Amino acid sequence: MGPGGRVAGVDLAAIDPPLELRNVFAFTGDLSDPVVPPRLLDALGGPADVLLSDAAPKLTGLRATDRAREEALLEAIEALVPQLLRPGGHLLMKVMDGPEADAIVKRLRARFEKAKTERPEATRKGSSERYLIAWSRRPNPLGEAPPTT
Ligand SMILES: C[S@@+](CC[C@H](N)C(=O)[O-])C[C@H]1O[C@@H](n2cnc3c(N)ncnc32)[C@H](O)[C@@H]1O
Repeated sequence: MGPGGRVAGVDLAAIDPPLELRNVFAFTGDLSDPVVPPRLLDALGGPADVLLSDAAPKLTGLRATDRAREEALLEAIEALVPQLLRPGGHLLMKVMDGPEADAIVKRLRARFEKAKTERPEATRKGSSERYLIAWSRRPNPLGEAPPTT
């Protein structure tokens, strides 16, 4: 990101030991909490160039519950895209395969100029994990919402 860049992140779990980097801001919180986007925008000084998510829900082993949790998480990230990512910005996010995820990925792809999904070679055998890579976010059809900072 270069010396002038900034990184802001959020996770339910705190980073331990804390990062002590001048241009990195790590918040502890739930990404679906409405207080999170203004905090991230404030730390970044405006909308991000790139949005990265490897968030994944805590799995229970119960298929229906796990799918519902994944769907809720992906919907929360989908809602963050127009709030946090500048038009023209790029998205990389982890997705667990499933019909609910497919619908969300399809909606997200339409918000970008170009997109694809990839399964990295390093992904464990049997894992349903893949990544959505999407380039150049299109402006919102009704114009950009004002920053929430
Ligand atoms: C695969 S781990 C990745 C953790 C970390 N990025 C890393 O590389 O070590 C998935 C992370 O998603 C986080 N997570 C799940 N749901 C979340 C939510 N609603 N808000 C914030 N973080 C969440 C979990 O706490 C967990 O740390």
